[in-house]
Amino acid sequence: MANRKYIVGNWKMNGMREQLSDIKEIAEIAGQNNQVDVAICPPATLIAQAADNNPDFMIGAQDCHFAAKGAHTGCLSADMIREAGAIMTILGHSERRADQHETDAEIKAKAEAVHAAGLGAIICVGETEEERDAGQAVDIVCGQLEGSFPDKAEAAWLTIAYEPVWAIGTGRVPEASDVEEMHAAIRNKLGKLMGDGADAVRILYGGSMNGGNASELLAVPNVDGGLVGGASLTAEKFGPIIEAAAAA
Ligand code: 13P
Repeated sequence: MANRKYIVGNWKMNGMREQLSDIKEIAEIAGQNNQVDVAICPPATLIAQAADNNPDFMIGAQDCHFAAKGAHTGCLSADMIREAGAIMTILGHSERRADQHETDAEIKAKAEAVHAAGLGAIICVGETEEERDAGQAVDIVCGQLEGSFPDKAEAAWLTIAYEPVWAIGTGRVPEASDVEEMHAAIRNKLGKLMGDGADAVRILYGGSMNGGNASELLAVPNVDGGLVGGASLTAEKFGPIIEAAAAA
């Protein structure tokens, strides 16, 4: 049976209080398409207000620390983001793997901390253009998945997002056949890592998804939703993606 589609907006380092109205509009569209799970991950500064303003809508975070508390200046724990109102967090986004030098082992520890706090996790994996050109994409992505895979993983709280680094923010999207190949490889790897529960783990595609290409991407086998950056910032752009998922 096909998994329920999951459409997640990653606002990255975008959004001031003024943009809380965009979240409200997006939450309204999500409410009208309730056969799809929809979430927005705003910057941490907006989590509490976004969650308070939209009690029936899922708000997530973009990262958290693996430690429960302590001397980690500038960081937030899983309990902190949960208390602010997040119900899940993105982990291991390629921008954090590159800018903050996050390792697979750290991402695994973060996912376990997130689960212990009662939150969901979206673990991101994806190859660079050089890796794809060298024919290594599947090996790189499956290696990232294995290295960052948390103990005691269950579909109830774990989601995987495949985001080819070269497709993020570029307007370039892989061929549907390449997305199909990668998502099948991820599904297969999940089967090896966790057995029977693997089929229910949602695998999102991310990288230049928009209202024009969402239907095609969401129709690819094993694509259970999308992780959307730029096109999630307004209801005008994000709404058509939610509607495409509802029709998929
Ligand atoms: P874009 O949709 O802007 O390409 O970003 C994708 C992404 O990185 C979501 O996490």
